[in-house]
Amino acid sequence: MLLPNCESYKIKMIEPIYQSTKEQRLQWLRDAKYNLFNLRSEQVFIDLLTDSGTGAMSDRQWAELMSGDESYAGSRSYYKLKDTIKDIFGFEYFLPTHQGRAAENVLFSCLVKAGDKVPGNAHFDTTKGHIEFRKATAIDCTIDEASDSTSVHPFKGNIDLIKLEQVLKSDSPENIPFIMLTITCNTFGGQPVSIENIRGVHKLSRKYGIPLFFDSARFAENAWFIHEREEEFRGKSIPEIVKEMYRYADGMTMSSKKDGIVNIGGFIGLRDEKLYKLASTFNIMFEGFNTYGGMAGRDMAALAQGLKEVIDKDYLDTRIRQVHYLGSLLTDEGIPVQQPIGGHAVFIDALKFLPHIKREEFVAQTLALEIYLEAGIRGVEIGALMADRDPVSRENRFPQMEMVRLAIPRRVYTNSHMDYIAAAIKNVYKRRESIRSGYRILNEAPILRHFTIELEKIPVIK
Ligand code: F0G
Repeated sequence: MLLPNCESYKIKMIEPIYQSTKEQRLQWLRDAKYNLFNLRSEQVFIDLLTDSGTGAMSDRQWAELMSGDESYAGSRSYYKLKDTIKDIFGFEYFLPTHQGRAAENVLFSCLVKAGDKVPGNAHFDTTKGHIEFRKATAIDCTIDEASDSTSVHPFKGNIDLIKLEQVLKSDSPENIPFIMLTITCNTFGGQPVSIENIRGVHKLSRKYGIPLFFDSARFAENAWFIHEREEEFRGKSIPEIVKEMYRYADGMTMSSKKDGIVNIGGFIGLRDEKLYKLASTFNIMFEGFNTYGGMAGRDMAALAQGLKEVIDKDYLDTRIRQVHYLGSLLTDEGIPVQQPIGGHAVFIDALKFLPHIKREEFVAQTLALEIYLEAGIRGVEIGALMADRDPVSRENRFPQMEMVRLAIPRRVYTNSHMDYIAAAIKNVYKRRESIRSGYRILNEAPILRHFTIELEKIPVIK
C-alpha cells in the first residue's frame, strides 16, 4: 500500500485557541467597524489573515535565538546570515531590514523618482504603495490567465513578455529604474513564475539595460512549483533551482516573515557594490547600522537557520500539500477558488461566490466578514479596498478580481483545522443567497487604506 503524505515534523509546543459564539462575533465585528484587522487575536479561532510572521519556528531556530550575538557592529549572527544568503542566493552584498517593506523603502529610496514606471507582475500592496508614494507608477504586466480563476495555467505568476516590452519601449531607461518580479505572485493567488519566464524577463531587462529585482517573500515555494511543473527541473534539488532562479536577478528584497520562517525580519540582496553603498546610507538612516539594520542579532541567527529549513524538499512538500488539501476540499464542493491552488493560500473568487452583491459594496470584504461570522475564521480581502483609490482621480479602483485570501501559516495548523475551515465555508456557500448587501466606507486613510478602514453595513431594502 502506498503510504500517505504526512507532516515532516512533530509538535513540541502548543498554544490553546478558543471558540466563540456567533452573537459574540457579531458584536466584535460591530466594534471593529467591520475591519478584520481591528479584531483582537483572542476573538479569532483560526487565523488565516496572513502567513507573514505567523509561522512556527523549529527547535533549531529557537536554539539559534539563544546563541545570537547582539553586538552593535560586526555581530557574529550578521555574518552567519550573510554567509547563508551568499550561499543560497549568490548575492555578495546584503542589508538586514526589519521587514520586507523596509527593504522596499531603502532600495526604492535609491532608485525610484517621481514620474518613473516600475513594471512587474502585480506588485504586492506595500511595493505598489512605496512606488506610488514616490509619485511613480507600478505597471502590472502579468499574463491574462492570472485574472481568470478557472484557468489552470501552471505558472500564473508569469509576466507577459509582450506587455513588458511595451512598457520598456515606452520610455527612456532613466525613467524605468527596474523591473520587479514577485515570486510567488501573492496578489494573484501565490502563483509561481517559471524559470523559462524569468529567463525571458531577464533577456528583456538586458536588451533595454534595466535591472531586474525579485520580491522574494515566497521564493522557496516558487522553487517547489518549478520542481513539480517545469520539465527541465524535475530531477534538480530545491537549492539548485533557487540558484538558477537568482542567477538572473540583480538584487532582491525579502520579507523574511514568509519563507524565512521567522516572526520578523527582512533584507536586501545585491550584486552591485555602488548600489549597496548608496543603500547602506538609507539603511543606516531608516533601519539601523548595516550589521543589524532593524533586526536583533538573535533574529538574524534564527533567520539564517530558517532559510536553510525552507529549502528542504520534505518541508515544502508538507507545506504546499496542506494548502492544496484545503483547496481541494473547497473545489470538491463547487466553491469557486483560484485554480490551480497557490503556494501559501487558497483564494476564494468572491465575485463568483456572491455574484448578487454590487461591486461598490465591496464583495470580497463582505465574504471575508461572513466567513468570520460563521466560524471565527479570519481571512483577508484582496479586492477593491486593498486596491486603494486611483492616486490621480481618487476614484475607487475595482480590480479584475475580488478575492478572499485564506493564508495558511507555516507549520501551525493541522489538517483537521483544514477540515473545519472547509466545513465552515461550505455553510456560508449554502446560505450565500441570504447575504443581501455589502458595506460602505465611513473612514479611510489616503494610502494602504484596508488596514485601518472603518465600514458600516448597508441596510437591506425590502
Ligand atoms: N512582498 C510580498 C510579495 C508580500 O507578500 C509582502 C507582505 C511584502 C512584500 C512586504 O513584506 O510584510 O515583511 O513588510 N505580505 C504580507 C501578506 C503582509 O499578508 O501577504 P513585510
